Amino acid sequence: MKTVLITGGNKGIGLATAEKFQQNGFLVKVVARDFSKFTLDKHDNVEAIPYDLEDLDGIPKLVSDIGTVDILINNAGIMHALPYDSYPPEKVEQILRINILSPVALIRETSRFMIKNGGGRIVNNASIAGEIGHPDIWYGITKAGLINMTKSFAKLLGPKGVVVNAVAAGPVETDMLAVIPEQRKKDIKNTVYTGRFAYAIEVAEAMYWLATGCPEYINGICIDINNGAFPR
Ligand SMILES: NC(=O)c1ccc[n+]([C@@H]2O[C@H](COP(=O)([O-])OP(=O)(O)OC[C@H]3O[C@@H](n4cnc5c(N)ncnc54)[C@H](OP(=O)(O)O)[C@@H]3O)[C@@H](O)[C@H]2O)c1
Repeated sequence: MKTVLITGGNKGIGLATAEKFQQNGFLVKVVARDFSKFTLDKHDNVEAIPYDLEDLDGIPKLVSDIGTVDILINNAGIMHALPYDSYPPEKVEQILRINILSPVALIRETSRFMIKNGGGRIVNNASIAGEIGHPDIWYGITKAGLINMTKSFAKLLGPKGVVVNAVAAGPVETDMLAVIPEQRKKDIKNTVYTGRFAYAIEVAEAMYWLATGCPEYINGICIDINNGAFPR
């Protein structure tokens, strides 16, 4: 049974992804802070691991306690939606830690197992924000960083059998949208072909495919999931 580690798999896009892996017989390890509403661990093949990804120093122990990881889904992320000129330094530090520094640390630690086992898969949950700019500049910066970091790690780890890809979704119906003003939500919907935000499962399906069935030759790319909001 293959093991998948999913950060932020307790809700939103991460939960939809965890459900997909659970239903397909993977051993699913979910890392997040709050499991009070999480029920997926009633299944024998799902384990909830409470952990705050801001604690970068603890990540090597977190991963060595988990053991072999075949697939890493770097999904956890936050957005503050604060103006660039009054963004408290501690919030900058927090978003950098959660959105970019912890994914790098998790790739570093889990890829040791993958290389030892002859290969593995990594999927990073970036965002359209990293492609077109975002009013929360640090959110956009971290997501652009994830896309570039995906290419770097594909180059470094591809020769060792590890396939590293990303997804960049436009707005998705999850709790994260709560911080976006209503007018901006309306404006964004007007740019989408079918006038709605994505469902979590639509992003989960893409991440699942990148982590399982996608050919090895698809390595270092980022799949846009935006239904016309940013055609290119
Ligand atoms: N919703 C969108 O419009 C959208 C669009 C494109 C990309 N994305 C990306 O998709 C990913 C998932 O977001 P979502 O939309 O599903 O939002 P969400 O429902 O708010 O989920 C965010 C997840 O990140 C986890 N998380 C946050 N801080 C954490 C920390 N310090 N330690 C461990 N886990 C932490 C949360 O769990 P806890 O709070 O319990 O720790 C939660 O599971 C994010 O990376 C986001 O940037 C979202």
